[in-house]
Amino acid sequence: QKVELELEAIEKGGFEHFMLKEIFEQPRSIADSMRGRVRADEGHLQLGGLRDYLDQLAASKRIIIVGCGTSWHAGLVAEYIFEELARIPVEVEYASEFRYRNPIIAERDIVIAISQSGETADTLAAIELAKSKGATIFGVCNVVGSSIARATHAGAYTHAGPEIGVASTKAFTAQVTVLTLIALEAAHKKGTISDAVFRQLLAEMEQIPLLVDKVLQNAEKVKEIAYIFTYARNFIYLGRGLNFPVALEGALKLKEISYIHAEGYPAAEMKHGPIALIDEDMPVVVIATKDSSYEKVVSNIQEVKARKGRVIAVVTEGDTQIREMVDFVIEIPPIHDMLMPLISVIPLQLLSYYIAVMRGRNVDQPRNLAKSVTVE
Ligand code: G6P
Repeated sequence: QKVELELEAIEKGGFEHFMLKEIFEQPRSIADSMRGRVRADEGHLQLGGLRDYLDQLAASKRIIIVGCGTSWHAGLVAEYIFEELARIPVEVEYASEFRYRNPIIAERDIVIAISQSGETADTLAAIELAKSKGATIFGVCNVVGSSIARATHAGAYTHAGPEIGVASTKAFTAQVTVLTLIALEAAHKKGTISDAVFRQLLAEMEQIPLLVDKVLQNAEKVKEIAYIFTYARNFIYLGRGLNFPVALEGALKLKEISYIHAEGYPAAEMKHGPIALIDEDMPVVVIATKDSSYEKVVSNIQEVKARKGRVIAVVTEGDTQIREMVDFVIEIPPIHDMLMPLISVIPLQLLSYYIAVMRGRNVDQPRNLAKSVTVE
């Protein structure tokens, strides 16, 4: 027993929980997911596992992304990136819905299956169905040799390393990293982005590990905010554009490990329902970084403040406008709009972690949840 406990402490590498260790590993796991694939100074990008399928990807008329849980959120981020950069229409589906609704799949459609474990039963079944209809399947998996990795025609592994905490953190950012690289490669091949933009995005991708590290150095600040909201009963998360799926992911993290009810919404959709919930007891986390929807998000924050909601805003460093309007700010460094989710999700992971710890929850093994769901 004692030996086991000591072994676990060593595995946690000095962190109190696996989840915190995995959050702090992200500068490395993101870098590992790009290693050997990206060399920005040479304008080089190659995903070996997709090499033979690149022409087909660039020529594809439609991409369907399937996944569950956090992997589905990574798919939603990828939808924005693929459509914006590569101009390929994307549909993102819950694997469990896709498999049972007689989906329309054309012979040369590309299906991208996202799965950390590579063992999720619904995702595997969705792949088999799409395959039987003639689609080409790419996998984005973390576990080498897993069932999903083996069932796909091609793919690109995330190199996040083993993820032990049930709530997914470093696997998510690794998935978004790899999906962004796939989208960039398709866009470059198709010519939907210029060489200059391609090189700029690669260079900014290479900066991500450093920027994530910078956000992590701010963890104490997030912890202070978590302390204040430990006993909240509900939370709303808002974001627009690429930060909308990040809002969903932030809410999911909080639900999973703290058991606080939380909902993620596209900020503009709030007025169609959730705004009715807002009063002085409702904390609202708003991802309000300086991007193309900044001004719109500012008005959404005003709508919340007018109803006395308490706003925690994730803002771009140096932002003074929002600081004056809200209760708390968490600053993150600036980055290209397309890459923002890799940075903006980090404080939300930390927030959920610290709230759960302060509530005395079993962070690494929350009740009722399994790390990989191998039954439907
Ligand atoms: C479970 C886990 C989640 C995960 C989801 C999909 O619900 O608790 O953290 O996002 O399965 O898992 P996968 O391994 O397919 O990414």
